[in-house]
Amino acid sequence: MQLPRSARVHLAGHRGLVGSALVRHFRSEGFEDLMLYGSDRVDLRERDAVRRLYADRRPRVVVLAAARVGGIAANSARPVDFLSDNLRIQVNVLDAAREFGVEWLLFLGSSCIYPKLAPQPIPESALLTGALEPTNDAYAIAKIAGLLHVQAMRRQYGLPYISAMPTNLYGPNDNLDVTTSHVLPAMLQRTHEAHTRGDATLTHWGSGTPRREFLHVDDLARACLFLLENYDGDAPVNVGCGEDIELRELAELIAEAVGYRGAVAWDTARPDGTPRKLLDTSVINALGWKPEIALRDGVRRTYDWLRTRL
Ligand SMILES: NC(=O)c1ccc[n+]([C@@H]2O[C@H](COP(=O)([O-])OP(=O)(O)OC[C@H]3O[C@@H](n4cnc5c(N)ncnc54)[C@H](OP(=O)(O)O)[C@@H]3O)[C@@H](O)[C@H]2O)c1
Repeated sequence: MQLPRSARVHLAGHRGLVGSALVRHFRSEGFEDLMLYGSDRVDLRERDAVRRLYADRRPRVVVLAAARVGGIAANSARPVDFLSDNLRIQVNVLDAAREFGVEWLLFLGSSCIYPKLAPQPIPESALLTGALEPTNDAYAIAKIAGLLHVQAMRRQYGLPYISAMPTNLYGPNDNLDVTTSHVLPAMLQRTHEAHTRGDATLTHWGSGTPRREFLHVDDLARACLFLLENYDGDAPVNVGCGEDIELRELAELIAEAVGYRGAVAWDTARPDGTPRKLLDTSVINALGWKPEIALRDGVRRTYDWLRTRL
């Protein structure tokens, strides 16, 4: 069913990569009553603050894109923060949602919470079937608790809350901190710098042979609203583009977008990670959703944004 465009929507985490795309998409779809509170105004780890917010503002729809998110280094160094902050944010928002009558809620999981050795492409049924990647197990356990919390809400209270599992995302408002950024923005930034300096060679990390899937965050935002309007099930739903690409090929796309004509080398002393990571998106595809932004186009658009930031 179509969500009423007059409904008040809390887009939690609206300044982040996902949250800012949700703001763009919900506005473009006619939602005008958006609740946008940064962590400086309402710290979602604080239970009383979340209860006060929901008691006062009474949102009817919630998309929970607020989370402590980070790369391997941050996850390894601060597992307690990733576990505790994410558990608290989720429990507070989900409990307040139920207490104050939120009618529709979407929780965001992540493809990195599937078992390390899940079959490829990864179906939703792979969740909880094997050991986790140890470098982000604290984050993964918190997120898995969130997925189960959503399922329990459905079972115990009959609430139509749902979860989505996005693949690797990229787009405007991505993290550009070189120590914690994801692979695509890191490669884009490195290529831009090599191009600006006029370097004859640029070196990316690893062998370049791993295959990864990338989804533009504007496609994810469309998928979030699509699922809220077209899916009412217990299982989390994978959201991806259904195709993966070798990092060497991605490096070529990026060089083309940046206009870099030098050589590209690979630092094989750096770890590659898992050889392939691709989500099985047959469930969301069968519901009638597919991505619209091709990787080449998405990389160009992300580079346009990145240039405004450097
Ligand atoms: N990026 C990806 O590739 C990817 C892939 C799969 C799933 N996801 C999922 O998508 C969600 C959003 O990720 P993202 O990449 O958009 O992260 P992000 O860019 O780091 O944004 C996270 C947002 O969460 C908010 N937040 C963090 N702690 C908070 C707190 N204590 N109180 C209130 N707000 C808080 C931050 O708000 P302020 O800016 O106001 O501090 C920030 O805007 C996460 O659940 C993540 O697991 C992301």
